[in-house]
Amino acid sequence: MSVLPDCYCPVDGTRVPSGALDWCCPACRGPLDLDYSPTPAPLKSLAGRVNSLWRYAECLPLGEAECTLGEGRTPVVRLTEKVSAKLDFLMPTLSFKDRGAVMLAALAGRLRPERVVADSSGNAGAAVAAYCARAQLPCTVFVPEGTSAKKLEQIGAHGARLEVVAGDREAAAVAARAVADESGVFYASHVHNPYFLHGTKTYVHELWEDLGGRLPDVLVVPVGNGTLLLGAALAVAELHTAGLIDRRPALHAVQAAAVAPLAAAWQAGADDLGDDVVAVVPTFAEGIAIPRPPRARQILRAVRESGGAFHTVSEDQIRHAQLDLASRGLYVESTGVACWAATREGGSVAAVLNGRAAVVPLCGAGAKTGLAVSRSV
Ligand SMILES: Cc1ncc(COP(=O)(O)O)c(C=O)c1O
Ligand SMILES: [Zn+2]
Repeated sequence: MSVLPDCYCPVDGTRVPSGALDWCCPACRGPLDLDYSPTPAPLKSLAGRVNSLWRYAECLPLGEAECTLGEGRTPVVRLTEKVSAKLDFLMPTLSFKDRGAVMLAALAGRLRPERVVADSSGNAGAAVAAYCARAQLPCTVFVPEGTSAKKLEQIGAHGARLEVVAGDREAAAVAARAVADESGVFYASHVHNPYFLHGTKTYVHELWEDLGGRLPDVLVVPVGNGTLLLGAALAVAELHTAGLIDRRPALHAVQAAAVAPLAAAWQAGADDLGDDVVAVVPTFAEGIAIPRPPRARQILRAVRESGGAFHTVSEDQIRHAQLDLASRGLYVESTGVACWAATREGGSVAAVLNGRAAVVPLCGAGAKTGLAVSRSV
């Protein structure tokens, strides 16, 4: 069994040894990072490996995958001459969260807590519930009221206990954190636990492999808590440090205009969120409606260092993008179309592409929410 890397606080350097159930920095309560800088395997050595994200074993902090559901290796399809989509809604639980959830369940499987607790706008909770079922770990998921009925059904079907919390996404997080410090609890936080990011980074390792050992000029990424974006930044750094890519792609981050604290900070030229409290206005993109993402500073820095930018999309753009994708044969949930809304003609990513090639993720399946056009926010 591989030795687990330690965690550390990127703000004050406090270290948390592997095997501890701490979910945040004991000094400042901020999210932790993993002290782990792996070297990816060269392209040619990947042939013949297992057809899941576990083929990138050299870059995964948990060497084994007993609770795997075959996640990863999602297809890339062309949308326009220069823009392709990576179909991450084709994951076992129908969203990209499986990439990180499998890492959390594998870690919990090693630590054998009395129970696992998570909070979510729906997709991360469904993924954690599924992988806990696979790993035979008791699981409780806190969700905000108003979470899509299909997501609630999915979480319950996997045998997780559901706690529906009055209030918004932040209220669900607060309720989960209230039990996260109890003894024997593993807080499977996709936001705080850095193992999650070392799962989402496989999105980029797969792209690199599928494009024959290179990456597109631009990666367009939805950002709520920024787990796909920070995972992407980790993978780009690993590939670049190993000399496996010579150019880093620009990371273009997309938020819903209704709840866009990071886009606002970006506009203001800030390197962190201000003190203003961002109101949670209802949006079709409920999965990215996060008013105070704990990793805000890291997300802003990653976008800046990549040469990318922040973008917002309106509710109308989301609605039209979802219908547009459906008319092309792709049925995607309303949060999962945000990147396409920004990148298709008329969007602000489209305006800055200048002929560069881009990949957008389609992150969640349409069956989870239905069409935005037939419901109100
Ligand atoms: C479909 C979908 N896309 C994007 C996101 C945003 O992910 P993150 O909060 O990690 O930025 C979520 C989060 O729930 C989601 O469900
Ligand atoms: Zn700290």
